[in-house]
Amino acid sequence: MDRRTTFGRIAMLACAMLGVVQPAGARTSTLLGSDHGGHYWFGYCQDQPDDTPLPPDPRSLVTPTYDKAVAFNVAWHACLARQPATCGELRALAAAGGRLLRGTGDVAAGWQFSGDHPSSMFAVPADQYNALWLRWGLLGRPADFDQIVAERYGTPLSAERNPYPLPGEDPNLTNGGSGQLPMALTQTHNADGSWSGNIGVTCAICHGGQVGTAADGPGLGPLFGNNGLADVNLLLTELGNANNGFNVMSLNRVRGSGNITNFQLFGLLTLFDFQTTLPAMVLNPGLWTSSNTGSEDPPNWWNLGHRPAKFFDAGMSTDSTRIELSWYMPGAATPQYQEGYDWVLAHEYAGNTWMLSLRSPAYPLPIDTRLAKRGAVLFHRLDLWATRRHNPVPRPVGGNGSCASCHGAYAPRYVNNPRFLATPMLAGMAGNVTPIDIINTDPARMEGNSAAVENAARASFFAYYGQDGCAEKYNLIGYLAQPLYGVWASAPYFHNGSVPTVWGVLKSSSRPLFWRRMSRPAQPGVVMGYETDLARAYDPVTLGWRYDELQCGSSGVTPYLQCDPSDPYATPLVESWLDIMFQNGSLSWNMLGGLMAPTLTNAQIEDRKIYNTRMYSQSNTGHEFTDVLTDRERTALIEYLKTL
Ligand code: HEC
Ligand code: HEC
Repeated sequence: MDRRTTFGRIAMLACAMLGVVQPAGARTSTLLGSDHGGHYWFGYCQDQPDDTPLPPDPRSLVTPTYDKAVAFNVAWHACLARQPATCGELRALAAAGGRLLRGTGDVAAGWQFSGDHPSSMFAVPADQYNALWLRWGLLGRPADFDQIVAERYGTPLSAERNPYPLPGEDPNLTNGGSGQLPMALTQTHNADGSWSGNIGVTCAICHGGQVGTAADGPGLGPLFGNNGLADVNLLLTELGNANNGFNVMSLNRVRGSGNITNFQLFGLLTLFDFQTTLPAMVLNPGLWTSSNTGSEDPPNWWNLGHRPAKFFDAGMSTDSTRIELSWYMPGAATPQYQEGYDWVLAHEYAGNTWMLSLRSPAYPLPIDTRLAKRGAVLFHRLDLWATRRHNPVPRPVGGNGSCASCHGAYAPRYVNNPRFLATPMLAGMAGNVTPIDIINTDPARMEGNSAAVENAARASFFAYYGQDGCAEKYNLIGYLAQPLYGVWASAPYFHNGSVPTVWGVLKSSSRPLFWRRMSRPAQPGVVMGYETDLARAYDPVTLGWRYDELQCGSSGVTPYLQCDPSDPYATPLVESWLDIMFQNGSLSWNMLGGLMAPTLTNAQIEDRKIYNTRMYSQSNTGHEFTDVLTDRERTALIEYLKTL
C-alpha cells in the first residue's frame, strides 16, 4: 500500500483497525470474522521481512470440485504462471501499480488510451476544463465549480490532493494548481516531470465509488474499485476532444452503478490491432450482428484475489491481466498499437498486483452479532433445494445447496472443515459459473459474447487463449458467482445493476420495476449526484442505497421511459422494436443510445438516473432460487453479509 499519501494512511489504518470495528466477540468466534477480500499474500506478508518467500497463489489451488459443500466448476488457468517471489517483491509491485492506477496527479499515473504520456488526442487542456460551466448553461464560473463537477458527472472529489490549474494559474508555480479534480480525472506530466496542464480520464470513471465519508469509519469515503456513480457518457462528451466520440458510442444509459459500458464495444475498440482483429472484423460480419452486451455494473476489484476467473461470464482467467490496462493502452485502435502492447506489457502486472491489495471496507453501523451468527450458519448450511422447500428452480450440480456452495465459505468453522473445502487456503474463494437456466438473470451480457466475438478475442493480444500455455476459455454458459466481500457496499446488484438492495436479491417479488437511486439535496439549476451519505441514504435493513420506486408512465421527459400505466408489465411497442434492434447488432445500442437517452438538458440528464428494468439488458429477473427463504432467514442472512 502506498504509504506516502493521506488516502494510503487512511487505508492502512483501515487494515490495522479491521478487528476493532468488528462486532464484539467476532475475532474469537468461529462463525464471524472476515479478511475483507484482497489477496491472501498481503495478509501473509504483514509484518514479514522483504525476503520472506511467498506461498502459492490460493487461486492456483482451485480445480473443478463437486464433492465438497463449496462447488467449483472452473479452474485456475495459469496463462502466465508467474508470481512475485517474496513479500518485498509483492510490496514493490503493488506500490508501482498504485501510482499507475490511483491517478491523483502522480508522475506515473496512467490515463485513457495514452499510457502515461503528457498528451494525446484524448487530453483535455485545463483551459477547456475550466470552461465546462459554459456547457452547463451558467452565466459565469461558479465558486463551487469543483463540487459541481463532482455532482453533475457523479465522480467524487479525490480524497487526496489531485490538482489542476485554475484559470490564469501556472501549474508549475503552484505545484499542479489549486483546483481539485475528481477521481475520474488526473493531471498529466511532461517527460521532464513538470506539470503539463493537461487532464486525462482514469479507470475510476467506471470503477470509482463512494460510501460514506472517512469520518464514518476506516476505509470509507471515495473508494477505488467499487462500482461507480458516474454518468460516464455525460462526462466524456462534455469534456470534449476525442472523448466526444463516446457520444456516438453512448457507453451508458443509466447514471452510475446502473449501467456503465458496452463491454463488447469496449473490447472491440481496444482489442483490435491492425494485424489480426481488424481484418477479422471486416471478414467476419458475425461480429457486427452479434447482440449487444448492454448494461453493466463493474465488479469490485477487492474480490480479484478470491476468484480464479473474472468477468461476469468467467470470460478470462484472473491470471490473464493484460486486458485490465486496455483503457490506458496508448495508440489503441490506431496503427501505433505496437507501442501500446509494449506499454501494457511493462505495466499490467504491477497494476494487477495493486488491485489485489485492495480490501473491502468494514460495515460501520451496528451489527446484531447473535443474529449474524445465525445467518452465518444459514449461509453455509441451508440447502435451498431441500425437499421440503420445493424449489422450482433446477438444482445445480455439486455443492450443499447453500449460499456458500456458489459464493464460497468464509466462517472459520466451515473453512477449516474438509467437507467444505479441500484446504483452508480456499477461504472466500468463489469459482462457480451458475448455468443460465438456474441463475436466470438477464442474458444479454452472456449472449453478446457470441462465438464470433470469442473467436476474435481469442486471437488478440489481450486474451491470448492458447498462447503462453494458457488454457481455452471456460466452456460454461451462465454467470460467475462472485465472492461476497463488502457486498453491503456495492449496491445495486447483479451484473447489470438491476436490483437496488440485497433484500431484493433474496426476494424477487420485492424488486422495483422502475427505480431511481436517491440524489443529494437539490440545488437550483444543478444536476446533483447520488447521495452517498450513510445516515441519509443507506438502508441497513434491506442493505442498499435508498431509492424511489416510480410509477409507469408518470415520470421523465424521455420517451423510452414511458409505458402503459394500465398494464405496466406489457412491453410497449417502442421497446419491443428496440429489443429486436439490440439483439441483432452490437453497435445499434450505441448508435441509438444518444437518441434514446440524450444528455442535452438537465431534465434529460436527470432522467438518466432512472433504471427501467424493462429495457434491453436491464431485466431484474433471476436468482429466484432464494425465493424459498423465509423473511426471518433473509434477515439473519443479511446481518451475516454485513460482516463480510
Ligand atoms: C467504461 C467503463 C470502464 C472503464 C473506463 C474501465 N473499466 Fe474495468 N470494467 C468495466 C466493466 C463494465 C467490467 C465488467 C466487464 C464484464 O465482465 O463484462 C470491468 C471489469 C474489470 C475487471 C475485472 C473484474 C472482475 O472481477 O471480473 C478489472 C480487473 C478491471 N475492469 C480493471 C480496470 C482497469 C485497471 C481500468 C483502467 C485501466 C478499467 N478497468 C477501466 C468498466 C470499465
Ligand atoms: C446456484 C448458485 C448460487 C446460490 C446457491 C446462491 N447464489 Fe447468489 N448469486 C449467484 C450468481 C451466479 C450471482 C450473479 C448473478 C448475476 O450477476 O447475473 C449471484 C448474485 C448474488 C448477489 C449479488 C451480488 C452482487 O454484487 O451483485 C448476492 C447479494 C447474492 N447472490 C447472495 C446470495 C445469498 C445470500 C445466497 C444464499 C441464500 C445465494 N446468493 C445463493 C449464484 C448463487
